[in-house]
Amino acid sequence: MFTKTKTIDGVPETALKGSMRDFRVMEGADLLGRCDAFYNWQDNRRRSGTWPFSRATETGPASSCAVRDDSGNLTTGVNFASQDYLSLSSHPAVLAAAKAAIDEFGAHSAGSPALVGNTSTSVALERRLAQFLKMEEAILFPTGWAAGFGVLKGIIRSHDYIVMDALAHTCLQTGAQAATRNVVLFRHNDVEHCRERLKEIRRRDANAGVMVVTEGLFSMDSDTPDIGALQELAHEYGATLMVDVAHDLGCLGKDGTGHIGIQNMLGKVDLVMGSFSKTFGSNGGFVATRSRAVKEYLRFYSPSCTFSNALSPAQLATITKALDIVESAEGRDLRGKLMTNIVNLRARIRARGMDCYGDPSAIVAVKTGDEALARMTARALPEMGLISNLVEFPAVGKGLARFRLQVMAGHTDEEVTAAADRLHAAMRIAQARLDAGFDLMEERLAG
Ligand SMILES: Cc1ncc(COP(=O)(O)O)c(C=O)c1O
Repeated sequence: MFTKTKTIDGVPETALKGSMRDFRVMEGADLLGRCDAFYNWQDNRRRSGTWPFSRATETGPASSCAVRDDSGNLTTGVNFASQDYLSLSSHPAVLAAAKAAIDEFGAHSAGSPALVGNTSTSVALERRLAQFLKMEEAILFPTGWAAGFGVLKGIIRSHDYIVMDALAHTCLQTGAQAATRNVVLFRHNDVEHCRERLKEIRRRDANAGVMVVTEGLFSMDSDTPDIGALQELAHEYGATLMVDVAHDLGCLGKDGTGHIGIQNMLGKVDLVMGSFSKTFGSNGGFVATRSRAVKEYLRFYSPSCTFSNALSPAQLATITKALDIVESAEGRDLRGKLMTNIVNLRARIRARGMDCYGDPSAIVAVKTGDEALARMTARALPEMGLISNLVEFPAVGKGLARFRLQVMAGHTDEEVTAAADRLHAAMRIAQARLDAGFDLMEERLAG
């Protein structure tokens, strides 16, 4: 038995359609068996080269490296898919600090921070971080995700409200949903819409706790809210502001304090939450507060802190040494190099007729739009020698697919040019294939 399938350059039409959203809510009693539907769709994409996810580097996040896809194919290219913005994960002083920490403290923290999982280095890092952010206190979490989830689940109760930017990260969305059903979104970076949301809540409930949640730099759009305006607004309505600084802390701003520093809001935001996994060379997250009481409450009521092991000694040493560098003249130089690469990449992308979202940051999100074009481009990229992350619905809106190029201080100027050239070439190849239209391919039916 044969069937005819519509294909473009061997890629079935079905691989260019649909999204992960289609498989989020699954019906049926067979909890495990119903995963098959997603796998079949994913595997169709995998077999046609349009599934660019779950790749593994062979060498760590170097500026050019080898990656193996999840079918086992090895390719090499310039790497714009790693979030090691100041290239600190391979800095000799960072590596030496991590090795020395293992020698001194062993490999494992072996306990929750609420028990005896912390080491003297955790306590010192919390203090350093609070000083860096001009806050009184900071508390560490095993990852940034755990911090975002944990701060909301830890503080917010079912009768409280969360007013969140519509594009806030999944750790914040999931934490919010776990904490209360009273979650309302405001339009991305729209302070006036946030005001309307707060007004509506206060009309109904004068006494509930309300947390306004946003990010210092949005990770898919590379844009930034008016943090001062949101903080003022939050206080006007008796609410608390929290800002997630995962993508800007350490790598943006003269002194590395990100958009909170750039907007002269250091020490003035109610809660600052972030991740070490972008600039500070290690897994890990934190929440900074002006109150010891809030820190202690989080330690014992935020489940992703209380009931999860503390950061390991090597992670702590990595982050602490990375923070030393971020605060030093070398850090300033690295941020300068990073910004030069960012500005050059954005200019070269535009010079080739492509466009990118937002403002200059380590995230250069190049507009592609249509998912079929994006997937065909992703298919062409490995042979062109560019490693880059495809972002598509539901991570971004439908028809708003993009390639998220993440820039590092360690990229050379040649690598920056190569990224722009190769993305442009891949997109042209993909467009030409789509323009040529579908062929009908005869396929033998299974069974
Ligand atoms: C805005 C934002 N917050 C939090 C996180 C989670 O950080 P981590 O990778 O440390 O879990 C991320 C990571 O993707 C992020 O982009």
